[in-house]
Amino acid sequence: ARTAAALVVLGLLAGGCVPAAGGGVRGTPGAAGLKDPYYPRLGNGGYDVSRYALDLAYDPDGGHLDGTARITARATQDLSALNLDLSGLTVAGATVDGEPAAVNRAGHELTLRPRDELREGAEFTVTVDYAGVPEPVTDPDGSTEGWLRTPDGAVAVGQPAGSMSWFPGNHHPSDKASYEIALTAPSRLTALSNGVRVSSGPVSGGRTRTVWRQTEPMASYLATVMIGRYETGTATALGDVPVITAAEPSLASATAALRAEIPRILARQQDRFGPYPFSAAGAVVTRDGLLGYALETQTRPVFPASSFDRTTLVHELAHQWYGNSVTPESWRDIWLNEGFATYAEWLYAEEHGSVPARESFASAFADDDNWTFPPADPPAAENLFDPPVYRRGAMVLHKVRETVGDRVFGELLRGWAAKYRHANASTEDFTAYAESVAGRDLDAVWKVWLYGDGRPERP
Ligand code: TRP
Ligand code: ZN
Repeated sequence: ARTAAALVVLGLLAGGCVPAAGGGVRGTPGAAGLKDPYYPRLGNGGYDVSRYALDLAYDPDGGHLDGTARITARATQDLSALNLDLSGLTVAGATVDGEPAAVNRAGHELTLRPRDELREGAEFTVTVDYAGVPEPVTDPDGSTEGWLRTPDGAVAVGQPAGSMSWFPGNHHPSDKASYEIALTAPSRLTALSNGVRVSSGPVSGGRTRTVWRQTEPMASYLATVMIGRYETGTATALGDVPVITAAEPSLASATAALRAEIPRILARQQDRFGPYPFSAAGAVVTRDGLLGYALETQTRPVFPASSFDRTTLVHELAHQWYGNSVTPESWRDIWLNEGFATYAEWLYAEEHGSVPARESFASAFADDDNWTFPPADPPAAENLFDPPVYRRGAMVLHKVRETVGDRVFGELLRGWAAKYRHANASTEDFTAYAESVAGRDLDAVWKVWLYGDGRPERP
């Protein structure tokens, strides 16, 4: 038994498969990345998360975050060790199924080695205790994301890789999970996150603990936190969906009218896109200077003040169906998010602004910026949010509409959202689905508009 144990230790150090004492083959470490074409080290292999429970206490004066993450997951292989993505911060300790686990950190890989190996198919719970001043993540395009400090609090946004700056997780869009996010902050501040607020009450030190719950699956890049001085508004949409909005106090009155339009916009989008996928909705408006873009954070998109206009609101609300419920399988499929959300803007302009979608198409066609690469194949990570992903993505959808007609296209918008509701989908899933609804192949559309290099002769 002693020799076997020594062999196991050596094998674990080598990170390979080793014969078990009983004769079978033991587990191996889960992969440190999911081989995303743009972010190969994002996410981790060997397990599938079903739930995150994050308990976060934030001190806005020092910018200090104190966190406990409880992660419920299922092993998809026999595991001797597993990785989580976490950047910065200090890990004080971790457990797997209640037993202390060995912790190792290298770059943004946090490796946990449980005392007992995990069997394929087993559900297990990980806890990670961590703390520190979170450092934003810098994207390949130079923008910063993650946990961003504000003068009175913080805003956390995570597309595509920022969530690792504030909680350990499987930070790839293909592993969606439910979330419960508890925020402890000074009682004078408001603390918002995704989903519905399930409780809020005073705790020690003049602080309040507020618990938010996002029951439907969410990709980690859509998790959000806003802590600071906000004025909030509540309404109801679609019969029973609570709409929680917030704006930094100096922006509250100027943004109230547009925030109040959310129920009407969602009702119209629900007619076009099918049932709203989540049990909450809303919007948060922050001061300019923090974020360079609006983001569709699940149920609670966030807008810098200067982007809080009707078109951008329509765009971020459309993402709740396209992006948040139907989520890209990998970052290569990002045009499925941005093309649909941009097309939602064109549909809105067609219906309310008397600008037919064919005119939006024509102006996108004429713009050189939209022709630098095909939407299905951005050249590099820094191009994931470039114009072709948005407007050429929308052009693909318009070409499908022209080919199949308005009635079938309407069916496609609803059917796509229904078929992959709360799931992940790839470009190939989309082309196959569109052809199944069209009842014919659409190669001519894909070849030129989705995959083709450069602008064709004629629109
Ligand atoms: N996905 C956001 C939207 O269109 C925008 C966005 C997120 C973005 N990250 C970005 C734009 C990085 C440019 C660069 O709603
Ligand atoms: Zn978008």
